[in-house]
Amino acid sequence: MLLISDSDIDNAVAILRSGGLVAFPTETVYGLGADAANPSAVRKIYETKGRPSDHPVIVHVADAVQVANWARDIPDAAHRLARRFWPGPLTLVLQRARGVGDFVTGGQDTVAVRVPSHPVAQQLLRRFGGGVAAPSANRFGRVSATTAAHVRQEFGAAVECVLDGGAADVGIESTIVDLSGGKPRLLRPGWITAAAIEEALEERVIAAGAGAPRAPGMLAAHYAPLTPLALAERDLLLELAASLGRQGRKVAVLALSSARPLDPVIWLVAPADPAGYAHTLYANLREADEAGCDALVVERPPQTPEWAAVNDRLSRAAAGTAAQDEI
Ligand code: TXA
Ligand code: MG
Repeated sequence: MLLISDSDIDNAVAILRSGGLVAFPTETVYGLGADAANPSAVRKIYETKGRPSDHPVIVHVADAVQVANWARDIPDAAHRLARRFWPGPLTLVLQRARGVGDFVTGGQDTVAVRVPSHPVAQQLLRRFGGGVAAPSANRFGRVSATTAAHVRQEFGAAVECVLDGGAADVGIESTIVDLSGGKPRLLRPGWITAAAIEEALEERVIAAGAGAPRAPGMLAAHYAPLTPLALAERDLLLELAASLGRQGRKVAVLALSSARPLDPVIWLVAPADPAGYAHTLYANLREADEAGCDALVVERPPQTPEWAAVNDRLSRAAAGTAAQDEI
């Protein structure tokens, strides 16, 4: 069901043209968008998110042809990945074209671009015609928003225009591949796996490490819920939850099975497949926050390649906790 009318899109485009912010759905998570060619509009994103201004943002465009407005020396690998995965949940880091502002790239010589597939994002980008700079629509360091209601919880009246395109399909942020330096590098795992990228490129992909371009999404402490979070194997999970409960803590559990051998405040069950798990992950973290729990114990998913993106987000969420609180 389409929740968005033509006049909603017209209104959003007018806001973008006048330098305002529009939150919009993508297939991964909601984005907080501004005209990527307008420095003061992009500055508003940073102010609204509370994000440091040297962190680069992704430029969203309607189709691969438009990437030439933002990037130069586009390698064959980019064409291959674009043909295979766009529109879709993949971001490419490329050498930036002349004229692309430091306010978009965080002062780097590269730019991140993505062609999202969500029909509302597509309509917005087509009608706007230019690039829309958009980080995930959440306050800096917090979990991404996967529904319009989550965006409103994050920003309230500070973001007037929120296009409601329903719950985001994928539920976690796009896979980021850096093609700016010769060898392809995976900067952020996502729904499109490293193996799928390697298959399309017929080439190995390097995992990000020292010397990779700065990517704040790569900070250990990122994507943190407000509730302190700990990861545990299934049997330890039950022990940990029980002992926290005995200390009088209000415990939430995020498990892979509904078998409920103890009685925490909330027992959330996540789908036991990686796509289903990712789709519900951020909503589950928000639910634990809203229930006012003071500890969230998460059953560690399998440590296999299909779960890499989910495990990445969970370990960052746990690291975010460790930085602030003891569980
Ligand atoms: O799925 C997504 O990618 C969502 C939707 C809205 O498209 N966007 C998103 O944006 O997750 P954000 O800003 O939350 O994360 C973008 C990541 C950041 O970690 C940023 O550092 C990295 O992309 N990035 C952006 N430009 C870059 C560049 N030139 N080089 C390296 N990393 C870059
Ligand atoms: Mg983000």
